[in-house]
Amino acid sequence: MVKFADNFYFGSATSATQCEGAHTPADKGKDIWDVWFEQEPDRFHGGIGPDTTSTFYEHYKTDIPLLKATGQNSFRTSISWSRLFPEGRGKVNEKAAAYYRDLFEELRKNGIEPFVNLFHFDMPAALQEIGGWENRQVVDDYANYAKTCFELYGDIVKRWFTFNEPIVHVECGYLTNYHYPCKVDPKAAVQVAYHTALACASAVKTYHELNQGGKIGIVLNLTPAYPRSSNPADVKAAEIAELFANKSFLDPAVKGEYDPRLIELIKEQNLMPEYTQEDLATIRENRVDFLGVNYYQPVRVCARASMPNPEAPFMPEYYFDHYEMPGRKMNPYRGWEIYPKGIYDIAINIRDNYGNIEWMITENGMGVENEDRFRENGQIQDDYRIEFFKDHLTWLAKGIEEGSNCIGYHVWTFIDCWSWLNAYKNRYGLVELDLKTQERRIKKSGLWFKELAENHGF
Ligand code: BG6
Repeated sequence: MVKFADNFYFGSATSATQCEGAHTPADKGKDIWDVWFEQEPDRFHGGIGPDTTSTFYEHYKTDIPLLKATGQNSFRTSISWSRLFPEGRGKVNEKAAAYYRDLFEELRKNGIEPFVNLFHFDMPAALQEIGGWENRQVVDDYANYAKTCFELYGDIVKRWFTFNEPIVHVECGYLTNYHYPCKVDPKAAVQVAYHTALACASAVKTYHELNQGGKIGIVLNLTPAYPRSSNPADVKAAEIAELFANKSFLDPAVKGEYDPRLIELIKEQNLMPEYTQEDLATIRENRVDFLGVNYYQPVRVCARASMPNPEAPFMPEYYFDHYEMPGRKMNPYRGWEIYPKGIYDIAINIRDNYGNIEWMITENGMGVENEDRFRENGQIQDDYRIEFFKDHLTWLAKGIEEGSNCIGYHVWTFIDCWSWLNAYKNRYGLVELDLKTQERRIKKSGLWFKELAENHGF
């Protein structure tokens, strides 16, 4: 049997933008997703935007029993910055403040530990107008927002995250034209990454000063970089991919510093951000207490086969090519490789290279298209998802057995939710959402998850 500790966190994650709904001005100020959807609705699958979600804002009281019905002892969601501060700063929206208070209290009443994240790709529109993370001022605005959240909810929320997958808003927003503001500007990307690390450290500093007796961490999507072969050129390619994809946020958050090899490459590309010694000291002195890891896929690379185009804007791929391993197992709906052993490699990397800091899996899951075809007697029989969870949990348990300090496993996601540009194309939930009627139905994996949690293993 694959076994986990009695106090292991079993649960799921979602984010405010992806589940809440309620986008009227009285409820929430605009964030970049609202603005982008107004401007370019066709970029979103099926033309479905952020205002069409699983209406958690309205239904949380009846959704929380479903958390229990699927065996969850913990749950991560995020606070929407632009719901709490419609302008990103200034006056708090009291209705929003009351909503989050009631949500966290309701979770506690039901014996579910809330894990609360402060930023999940959702910059308030008013702050994006002044440059978003490119602007140093926004770091201070974020620190103020974070402090407000700690003061409002610190008595009942004891596990905080500063950011979810910060590399995503850097890469997708400033390199690959995949998220708003859709810039392709490497210099801005580096500035945004640096300001994000600084914002994280600023929130950690404030949280520790308030002394509320909880812990604060960051959620990173770690994608272990594997070389095609042991040829030195391939190995070097993987080391560089690792620097950009993983160490760029892992090192400042956990060690308070940047890997000198990454700084060298950034200098080589003439992309150094503007920084002050005082801000660097903030990063150095304010490290996270624990780590959240989202794991979906590894990255496989090899040495470049051709010279980079000197006129192309810089991308980390300047230094490596992506490599498709023959025989790799794929999730064809999302186009992501499924490689369960990656979770074990992450566990060992954290144990050996990051002081064995306390950590947990904050997302792991499988998005599948058209799940309706798996319905039998009214219930979606998602055995593929159960198998996916089992394979990953088996490798995770091995990592823990070998001493890695992992305290929990959260799946993505609770109720099928809105997936950014993919909208409702791929479903990830333990609970099915009928988008038209808003009806919820527990999938087979939801019942399996309950057994998993009750038995502390499978
Ligand atoms: C993670 C994010 O990257 O993966 C989630 O934290 C996201 O917000 C999830 O929904 C699945 O990715 P996608 O693009 O299929 O929704």
